[in-house]
Amino acid sequence: MEKEQWNQVLDAPFVQGFVRMTKDGFDQGWHERNGGNLSYRMKPEEVECVREHFAAQDWKSIGVSVPALANEYFLMTGSGKYFRNVVLDPEANICIIEVDGSGEACRILWGMKDGGRPTSELPSHLMNLEVKKKIDENYRVVYHAHTPNITALTFVLPLSDEVFTRELWEMVTECSVVFPAGVGVVPLMVPGSMELAVETSKRMQVYDLAIWAHHGIFAAGFDFDSTFGLVHTAEKAAEILVKVLSMAPGKRQTIQPEELRMLANDFSIELPERFLYRKHW
Ligand code: 13P
Ligand code: ZN
Repeated sequence: MEKEQWNQVLDAPFVQGFVRMTKDGFDQGWHERNGGNLSYRMKPEEVECVREHFAAQDWKSIGVSVPALANEYFLMTGSGKYFRNVVLDPEANICIIEVDGSGEACRILWGMKDGGRPTSELPSHLMNLEVKKKIDENYRVVYHAHTPNITALTFVLPLSDEVFTRELWEMVTECSVVFPAGVGVVPLMVPGSMELAVETSKRMQVYDLAIWAHHGIFAAGFDFDSTFGLVHTAEKAAEILVKVLSMAPGKRQTIQPEELRMLANDFSIELPERFLYRKHW
C-alpha cells in the first residue's frame, strides 16, 4: 500500500472516526462530566502515517502487564477529560501512546497538549485489548460508557450473566443477533482499579460486552461503528426493559426461548443454551 502522509494527526481517518464516536456517545447522554473512555489499537500503517508528528514524553508504568501489546500504539481519551470537548479540541483531550517492549510501561507521543495522562481506566482498556487481540487480531476498539438504563437495571436485577443476557435478548428481537455470546456482569468495583481490569478481562474472554454494576458498560469490537452499535443496542434494550418494569409488575407476553432458538436458526447463529432457561414466573 502506498504510504499516505497526513499533514496533521487530526486529518487521519482513524482519528476522525474516534472523535466522531466521542461526539456520538456524548449526544446519547452517556458521558456526563468526564464519564467514559475510549481506546483504539492503531494499525502499523496508521502509525507510520502520523509518526512524524510524535514527540515522546517519559515512560510511565501501566500498572498491569500486557506483553502481547508490546511496541503497539493506541489512541485514547485522557483522564478527567470531557467527551463533549473532544470534538472542539481533540489535541487537548485525547492522546496517542506507545507501549514499551516489556508491555509494562507506556509513554505519550501526541496529544494532551495542555498536560494530562491517559484515562484512569488504562489498565482495563489495555488488558482487554490484549485479551481480545489474542482471540482475534481484528479487535481494535474498547469503549466504556455511563449508559443510564443499563446501570439502572443493576439495582433491580440479580447481577448474573444469565439474567442480564436473557432479559436484554427478550427486549428487542435483534439483540441476540447483535450479541449472540451474551453479556457479562461485573459486581461493584473501584473505578480505574486493577481488580476491575482483571474481572472485566475474565468476562471479555467470553463476551464483547461487560456491565459494570452501578457504573456503566464496557465493550470491545473490530471498529468504531460495530463497537458503538453494540453499546447502543444493549442500552436501547435496557431502556425498553426499564419502561416495561415501570409500567407493570410483569410481562404479559415476551420472546420465548423457543422463539429465540428459531431466530438463531434463521440468522445462522448459535445461542448458548444456558441463557435459554425456563422461567418460573
Ligand atoms: P477517566 O476520566 O479517567 O477516563 O475516568 C472516567 C470514568 O468513567 C472512570 O470509570
Ligand atoms: Zn466510568
